[in-house]
Amino acid sequence: MRYMVRYDDGDPAPRARRSLARGGSGRAAACSPLPADRDRGGARAAQRGSADAQRSHALGRPPEGGRVNRALPHHSVGHADLPRESAEIRALAEAYDLLASWPRRPDYLDHLLDTGRVEVARTAAGVIGYGGVFVGPHQTHLTDLFVRAGETGQGAGGAILAALELDRARTTTFASADPRAHALYHRLGLQELDQLSYLGATANDVERLRRQIDPIASPAEADTEGAIRRHRELRGGLHGASTLSFLAKTARPLTWPSGYAWLRIARDRVCVGPVGSDDDTTAVSVVAAALLEAVRLRPRVQIVVAHSHPAHALVVTSGFTTNDVDTFMAGDRSLVDLTRYCPDPDLG
Ligand SMILES: CC(C)(COP(=O)(O)OP(=O)(O)OC[C@H]1O[C@@H](n2cnc3c(N)ncnc32)[C@H](O)[C@@H]1OP(=O)(O)O)[C@@H](O)C(=O)NCCC(=O)NCCS
Repeated sequence: MRYMVRYDDGDPAPRARRSLARGGSGRAAACSPLPADRDRGGARAAQRGSADAQRSHALGRPPEGGRVNRALPHHSVGHADLPRESAEIRALAEAYDLLASWPRRPDYLDHLLDTGRVEVARTAAGVIGYGGVFVGPHQTHLTDLFVRAGETGQGAGGAILAALELDRARTTTFASADPRAHALYHRLGLQELDQLSYLGATANDVERLRRQIDPIASPAEADTEGAIRRHRELRGGLHGASTLSFLAKTARPLTWPSGYAWLRIARDRVCVGPVGSDDDTTAVSVVAAALLEAVRLRPRVQIVVAHSHPAHALVVTSGFTTNDVDTFMAGDRSLVDLTRYCPDPDLG
């Protein structure tokens, strides 16, 4: 899942915060060692036992200076109680700097809380973690799994994931570099299938890309119906009517004969994506055309490109900055074709 800062904005503070969330350059803090007093062997044994034992693993927390006492539950896990808990979930998302590229409401978190499935871990003090999925007709995308710093490594993330009751064969996620996330997703049966780079670029970088590509898809049309139709053809397995109308509300559509793109303006930058093309031979020119349109709107752009996408090598040689890399994990490779699709990092 997302991220550290997904762009190169020269502001180390948000980058450091976001890298905490997404296991980027601040991963040491995000992936801090388990508390020395955690009985990990006991946790493993519980996990391999019955479903009840699995949950009890999630409930123990070491009392101050002591060992885990699994008879004394620390947190419980269940459906988010909305709208009552939405402010606490939003506070957690903000603490992980997940909303920086969504300066306006509704943002992806509003959309997730409105239309997705969200499970939370709570203590007496409130929500300490949440996980959220977008559920489509053929695919379920785990977009968020976050546990409050200081509460990680004690079973909450695993318990939230269990409560989401994901079907391995339908599930996709963009995993951060946090080894705890990988451990949990492997246990669910997901495989590491690709890498996704979070790239930032200036108008000069995009111009260098344009010079490498001939022909470039042009001119673009601002065609909402066309972009919706093409996006539904490519991503209808995940994105139903509510996400299509959310895209139309929050981003500008562009279409070309061989593809489409959505551009979302976020303060001084444009977030480019989703971008889709008919096939991998047109994928590069559609991506380049979308980026050229984007730098007309703002001086900086950001885009997520899979390493299997033919544009990836070209954007790197054009000078784009890789701000973070996630791992595309899924139960089935055919759920999304990243050779001709650049996702939105939050919507999938
Ligand atoms: C990733 C995250 C949600 C997991 O939640 P959590 O409550 O810390 O995880 P849990 O304690 O339930 O489980 C962690 C698992 O990772 C394992 N683990 C811990 N450190 C590990 C390491 N260095 N290498 C491999 N596995 C490790 C644990 O053994 C545990 O597995 P087990 O239950 O079989 O023993 C949480 O750590 C977090 O919020 N991290 C920062 C944000 C982030 O990167 N989120 C993921 C987005 S994809």
